[in-house]
Amino acid sequence: MHLLRPFVLSVLLFVIILHAPSPSAAADTLRRGHALAGHDKLVSGNGKFALSFFQLQTGASYYLGICFDKVPVLTPVWTANRDNPISNSTSPELIISGDGNMVVLAQGTTIWSTRANTTTNDTVAVLLGNGNLVLRSSSNPSLTFWESFDYPTDTMLPGVKIGWNKVTGLNRRLVSRKNSIDLSSGLYSSRMDHDGVGRMMWNSSSMYWSSTWNGRFFSAIPEMSAGSSIANQTFVDNDQELYYTYNIFDERIIIACVLDVSGRNQVRVWTGQDWMTVNNQPAQQCDVYAVCGPFTICSESTSDADPFCNCMRGFSLKSPADWEIEDRTGGCIRNTPLNCGVDHGNETVVADKFYPMPGIRLPQDGRQTMPNVSSANECAQVCLSNCSCTAYSYGKDGCSIWHGDLLNVATDGNQEMIYLRLAAKELETGKGNRTAMIIGVAIGTSIVALVFILLIVIWRRNGKWSRPTVGNDQGSVGIIAFKNADLQDATKKFSEKLGAGGFGSVFKGFLSDSIAIAVKRLDGDRQGEKQFRAEVNSIGVIQHINLVKLIGFCCEGDRRLLVYEYMPNGSLDSHLFQSCGTVLDWNMRYQIALGVARGLGYLHHGCRDCIIHCDIKPQNILLDASFVPKIADFGMAKLLGREFSRVVTTMRGTVGYLAPEWISGMPITPKIDVYSYGMVLLEIVSGKRNCVEHSSSHTEGQGDYLPVQVAHKLLHGDILSIVDANLHGEVNIEEAERVCKVACWCIQDLESDRPTMIEVVQFLEGICELEMPPMPRLLSAIAGSSLHHTRV
Ligand SMILES: *[C@@H]1O[C@H](CO)[C@@H](O)[C@H](O)[C@H]1NC(C)=O
Ligand SMILES: *[C@@H]1O[C@H](CO)[C@@H](O)[C@H](O)[C@H]1NC(C)=O
Ligand SMILES: *[C@@H]1O[C@H](CO)[C@@H](O)[C@H](O)[C@H]1NC(C)=O
Ligand SMILES: *[C@@H]1O[C@H](CO)[C@@H](O)[C@H](O)[C@H]1NC(C)=O
Ligand SMILES: *[C@@H]1O[C@H](CO)[C@@H](O)[C@H](O)[C@H]1NC(C)=O
Ligand SMILES: *[C@@H]1O[C@H](CO)[C@@H](O)[C@H](O)[C@H]1NC(C)=O
Ligand SMILES: *[C@@H]1O[C@H](CO)[C@@H](O)[C@H](O)[C@H]1NC(C)=O
Ligand SMILES: *[C@@H]1O[C@H](CO)[C@@H](O)[C@H](O)[C@H]1NC(C)=O
Repeated sequence: MHLLRPFVLSVLLFVIILHAPSPSAAADTLRRGHALAGHDKLVSGNGKFALSFFQLQTGASYYLGICFDKVPVLTPVWTANRDNPISNSTSPELIISGDGNMVVLAQGTTIWSTRANTTTNDTVAVLLGNGNLVLRSSSNPSLTFWESFDYPTDTMLPGVKIGWNKVTGLNRRLVSRKNSIDLSSGLYSSRMDHDGVGRMMWNSSSMYWSSTWNGRFFSAIPEMSAGSSIANQTFVDNDQELYYTYNIFDERIIIACVLDVSGRNQVRVWTGQDWMTVNNQPAQQCDVYAVCGPFTICSESTSDADPFCNCMRGFSLKSPADWEIEDRTGGCIRNTPLNCGVDHGNETVVADKFYPMPGIRLPQDGRQTMPNVSSANECAQVCLSNCSCTAYSYGKDGCSIWHGDLLNVATDGNQEMIYLRLAAKELETGKGNRTAMIIGVAIGTSIVALVFILLIVIWRRNGKWSRPTVGNDQGSVGIIAFKNADLQDATKKFSEKLGAGGFGSVFKGFLSDSIAIAVKRLDGDRQGEKQFRAEVNSIGVIQHINLVKLIGFCCEGDRRLLVYEYMPNGSLDSHLFQSCGTVLDWNMRYQIALGVARGLGYLHHGCRDCIIHCDIKPQNILLDASFVPKIADFGMAKLLGREFSRVVTTMRGTVGYLAPEWISGMPITPKIDVYSYGMVLLEIVSGKRNCVEHSSSHTEGQGDYLPVQVAHKLLHGDILSIVDANLHGEVNIEEAERVCKVACWCIQDLESDRPTMIEVVQFLEGICELEMPPMPRLLSAIAGSSLHHTRV
């Protein structure tokens, strides 16, 4: 039952019930004269944390560190000796030394020490319930000489202060680990600077992420503001201190904020089975500086099984072994050295050539612009004439050339082209791009071993069902693979139909007679099984309180079924437009508008790949038992592949929500969802469909076409007449005006005029003010000329 309630909190409650730490018998204090060695551990009074010596693998070096005691996956949250591991052949021990410090000894040598100035002769080491290891006076517990929270490694537990102690000059920052099997300091760091800006850096020199505190949260992490049911955040800047911290409301929640090997800050929550990443900063993997190393191309991958780094043409992995353990610093190296224009007096050696790479985000490091070069050919010659030049581009900014390693080359689908300098030999084969692609794929598959995860579920009739989890280091969640026969039973042979949409029909069912589910049977062309499973897994990772949760799937023969949590209050349209639904009061409507915006904001900006929903409409907004809105059918583009565009455009009733650029066949961006969302907002306020059948009796030009009507009334300050009559005037006018303004901005003709969903959330939360929108010209033209939108 717990699994089917709203996302994070229910998961957490579930976890808490099953995994509530129980106070442990083990001691939380180390005193002088005692030693911590072997498998000994100090366990915090609440049973949550443990301090011990551990190895990441059997036979590897020892570290002294703190882990979550109840989490079976070894997850060090603090390490004393990360850059000075202890040889596996020794038996290290932790003691309180004569001068009252904590010291790690191995074969008589000091490996690590707290090196604090103690002023009493009764110091003890205590592991506190928040995971802080403190060295303090036994008789006077308020006298603390040293604490591990002052020396965080790659993890920020609740209560750790990232930032400065201005009096002592102590700077607390996070530094990533080197690779997946080595805890030593890597190249990424996350810190708070004296100007009060949070920054993420590569090798302490190149910044790739920054954010300022806007009074409530960091502006680059708007999702965090919505997470307020779990944690609060604090930013302090006074005479003594400058820091950022967060605290959780329930100490039983197992949460950690980690600067990952991949250079991203991840908020992870332990679900009871695995770690789930609920926030990634930067949101895009390729925005991390040098994430793939030199001479690579980074692509935001569509599934976790895809490598996101690949070597450029003519290059090979410098160290495949390092890549396996997620250390990509070495990047790729040239297969054939450049000729560099040197005449070897050998006819077979010819000048270097250029290989075009389209759709690339141009790297900024090592770039030199050549203002006096006026043709692409000349630009190529300039590059050829200098041996250190590795690439050129000639575009709207004229000629640019690059010297040395090419870093941060990423595909971003835009039209920039970079020409990579290669030895002529690399480009000799007539097979061209095809070969390059095959080589690329071969390299890709050798990098990430393709592990096929067989999802076999044992779901017994007696109501017990296990959740095999699709584990990977990105923190995904378990998706259940159901048998067709089991879903037949659960839905009583698909007898209770909840609805039908462009992708198939939805049926109600029950797991073990008590847990309600919604089973969607997909119509249309069948996607291959492997692809389908991969996409289901990648969609399953996407979780947010305002998105319908995918519980499982079935893929047998040409059957394709998706199993979702059941939403007792049905879809938004049944409440807005049909007499049978509950009339939603204003506050509910406002919360629904805000919730949908947050859900979409998460899809567009919060998860690993930007997901465009493509079909936002009230039918796809479902309401749970407490009327929390949940967006349904996201990720369908991934599941249905190319068929998707056809499915959507032939779908009835969706036309009123389609943005102009979609209809005109332009490439789509998340702004098409913003447009559809704007239309939904108008319907939420007015309780009317935006596309009622055109009534020919209407002679007035600006007619009854809802968006145009709203824009007019808004401009004339007449909000009340737009609002749904069913509300009987019980409405917060200020909020209603805000919603109408946001809606009118969302339905602007030009994508660039529409806000992003993140901005929409901020507008609706009242964090930012909005100007009066202009009348959407295209819409008013359509209404004015009676050329009705249903014609499209
Ligand atoms: C200790 O480490 C070395 C090299 O790191 C390894 O060869 C050896 O097998 C390890 N010893 C044990 C007992 O595992
Ligand atoms: C400890 O005291 C010594 C001598 O007073 C001083 O030089 C040193 O900086 C102090 N260390 C710390 C960590 O306060
Ligand atoms: C610790 O110091 C106090 C005085 O500061 C002294 O009375 C006591 O004997 C000392 N204890 C030990 C174990 O040295
Ligand atoms: C990091 O910076 C240092 C100097 O600041 C430099 O010596 C080192 O080579 C850099 N590391 C990498 C991987 O570029
Ligand atoms: C944040 O929450 C913690 C734990 O509930 C509480 O002690 C603290 O006062 C809160 N801070 C703010 C700024 O609300
Ligand atoms: C010319 O280059 C080829 C391959 O690079 C080499 O095999 C050959 O020996 C060279 N000939 C001379 C005369 O240097
Ligand atoms: C560009 O050309 C102008 C005149 O043609 C010359 O004065 C200037 O020095 C040139 N700049 C460079 C960078 O070559
Ligand atoms: C090649 O370019 C580098 C970097 O701009 C420069 O330092 C070097 O002098 C140039 N070499 C020649 C031969 O022009």
